[in-house]
Amino acid sequence: MATYAERRARLLERLGSDLLVVAAAPVALRNASVEHPWRQDSDLHYLTGLVEPESVLLLGGKHPEHRAVVFVRPRDEERERWDGERLGVERAAAALGVDAAFPIGELAKRLPDYMADVRRVHYRLGRVPAMDALLLEAIDRVRSRERLGVSAPVEIVDPRLTVHELRMRKDPEEVEAMRRAVAVSIDAHLSAMAVAAPGRYEYELEAEILRTFRAAGAERPAYPPIVGSGPNATVLHHRRNDRRIEAGELVLVDAGCEIEYRAADLTRTFPASGAFRPEQRALYDVVLAAQLAAIEVVRPGVALDEVHRVAVRELTRGLVALGLLEGDVDGLVERGAFKTYYMHRTSHWLGMDVHDVGAYYVEGRSRALEPGFVITVEPGLYVVPGAPCDPRWHGIGIRIEDDVLVTESGAEVLSAALPKEPADLERCVGRRAS
Ligand code: GLY
Ligand code: MN
Ligand code: MN
Repeated sequence: MATYAERRARLLERLGSDLLVVAAAPVALRNASVEHPWRQDSDLHYLTGLVEPESVLLLGGKHPEHRAVVFVRPRDEERERWDGERLGVERAAAALGVDAAFPIGELAKRLPDYMADVRRVHYRLGRVPAMDALLLEAIDRVRSRERLGVSAPVEIVDPRLTVHELRMRKDPEEVEAMRRAVAVSIDAHLSAMAVAAPGRYEYELEAEILRTFRAAGAERPAYPPIVGSGPNATVLHHRRNDRRIEAGELVLVDAGCEIEYRAADLTRTFPASGAFRPEQRALYDVVLAAQLAAIEVVRPGVALDEVHRVAVRELTRGLVALGLLEGDVDGLVERGAFKTYYMHRTSHWLGMDVHDVGAYYVEGRSRALEPGFVITVEPGLYVVPGAPCDPRWHGIGIRIEDDVLVTESGAEVLSAALPKEPADLERCVGRRAS
C-alpha cells in the first residue's frame, strides 16, 4: 500500500490543483454470458493496486481534504455469491489508503463537485465511451453552475504527460516484479525448446509455455505467445500456432508472462532438429551480432534511436557480407534498404504494458534513456518466400529479443540467463525425454 501512496504523492506534486480521473477497465462480453478475461486498467492499478471493475480514482483537484477519492462497487451478498468478494465502500478508504470512498453509482452525482473550480482535468478520452459520456456530462453540470460563481474545467488533457511519465521510471518494486516475470518467461522458453522436435505442432510449444506461466503463478501471458516454425517465423505477429514443425526448420518463439501486472517480452529462434543449417546459422549470427552491438550502447543519455541505428547498421553489414544486399553499407543504411528484411523497430518501452506507455520523442528528438527505463532490444531478419535474393535464404525468420534495464552506470540485461549463443541453443532443443 505504501508504494501506491508514494506514487500518488509523486503524481500529486505534478498535478497541483488539476484533477486526474482514472477509470477501471470495462468488462468485455465474449459471447452469451461468457466474458473475456478481465484485466485492470494499468494506470488505475499503478495508482491503487485495486483489481475490481467498475471503479474510479480521482486524484488532486480543489477539495481541501480529499486529495485521493475512490468510487467502488458496494458489497452485495447476492452478486458476491456468484462473482466473489468485493472490497466494498466501507473498507475501501482504509484498504487503499485514500481519503474518501463512495459507491460507484454516486459518481455521476459527485463528480461535478470535485470538478468545481478545477481548470484542467487529466483523463484518457476515447477508451470507455460510457465513462467519456459521464465525464462530459459532469463538466456540463459544472458549467451550469457558473452563474453561481463556480468555474468549470477548460481543458481535458491526456494522462500521458503525468501518469505515463512516472510509469516510465520503474521503482524498485516494479523492477522486482519484472525480474520475476522474466525468470518465469525464461523457464517457459526453455521448456518450449525442450519439447521442440520435427513432427511437433507449434501449439504443443505454446501449451508448454502457457503451462509454465500458470504453474509458476504468473497471472497471464503479457501477449499471445508466438510460435512460428519455418516460413511462419517470417510473420511478425503469427498467432495461429497450428503448423507442424518440419525437420531442418527454425522455430521462432516470442513469449512473456505477466506477474503483478508487469510484463516480460522475450524471443528466441532455434533449430527444430537441434542443429542450424549453414544459411540459418549465417543469418542468425548477423542478428546476434546486431543485438549484442545494440545492447552495448544502452546507457543513460543515449537516445533510443541510437540503439536502433546501431542494430540497423550491423544488420546491413551482415546482409551485404552474405550477398542479400549489394552496395555500400552507409548508402544502404541511408536508403533504408534493410527494410526488405527488417521492418520493425529495435526497441519499445516495457513495463505494465508490453508496449508500454511513455513518449518516444520529446520536442521532435528521440528520447534519451534514463535510469529506471526498461526497453526491449529485438532485432530480426525475415526473408519471406519470394524475397529478392538467392532462394536458399527464403523462409528464414529470426528474432532475438531481450529485456534491458537502464541503470545508473549502463544497462542490465534482465533476461541474460536465457541462452542465445547458437551452440547453447542447440544443446537446449529437444532435451526432454517423452
Ligand atoms: N511481443 C511483441 C513484441 O515483441 O513487440
Ligand atoms: Mn517486443
Ligand atoms: Mn516480443
